[in-house]
Amino acid sequence: MKIFKNIVILTGAGISAESGLATFRASNGLWNNHKVEDVATIEAFQKNPQYVHEFYNELKKELVKAKPNAAHLAITKLQNEYPADINIVTQNVDTLHEKAKSKNIYHVHGQINQAVCLNCGHILETFGDVDTETVCPNCQVAGMMKPNIVFFGENLLYMDKVDELLRSCDLFLSIGTSGVVFPAAAFVQTAKYYGALTYEFNLEPTSNNFYFDHHIMGKAGVTLPAFVDEMTASLKNGD
Ligand code: APR
Repeated sequence: MKIFKNIVILTGAGISAESGLATFRASNGLWNNHKVEDVATIEAFQKNPQYVHEFYNELKKELVKAKPNAAHLAITKLQNEYPADINIVTQNVDTLHEKAKSKNIYHVHGQINQAVCLNCGHILETFGDVDTETVCPNCQVAGMMKPNIVFFGENLLYMDKVDELLRSCDLFLSIGTSGVVFPAAAFVQTAKYYGALTYEFNLEPTSNNFYFDHHIMGKAGVTLPAFVDEMTASLKNGD
């Protein structure tokens, strides 16, 4: 295996499945128990902000208890042992990459432990409840806090940085994402266009599989640690 210099790792809900967190589109997925249009659109938030806050407050209680699994830890191991610029672009709003002590993490769909003030733009970091009464600690205005979650139809976060990373990476790993939500689902196309070798780690081939050079099927908690071991071994063998 060649030695890579710039690695982008895209993660989705599947990487957190073995930490006990529900994905979105599986049979017991989040979107099977709640309608996207009721909790994940700007219109829903404008219509019933308290209901949307309560959904994310409940989700926060779940996510705060979760522990990183072997897949998260394998990424940290790679960052610590492999001499490349390794960036994590995650669609997940959980903080399991942070809990695994990974670095260079870009939450393009936002983070569950953040709320943004629509009055002054301040980001409030908290695992506590946020609601329509919450006062912004920066501008002291009440009732203007929104979960810092990118709703459908909103622009993703960090897109300039992500675009720069995708154009310069020589290895692109996609882990535990169904590849159906754009623009994140198109990141592999950009990476491939600019010459990256692309791998997909999933339980099954996804709709995006045309753009992946390699498909590593199985649970990420098993397949990713093995892959990382192969990558670090190749440093010693110089292959
Ligand atoms: N190991 C590897 N892959 C797994 C595992 C596992 N243990 N468990 C599930 N998967 C795979 C599933 O096969 C599926 O392809 O993870 C993927 C999860 O897909 P989704 O539930 O669609 O989640 P995701 O791709 O992250 O959704 C993208 O959609 O609703 C929005 O904002 C939300 O960020 C989310 C985005």
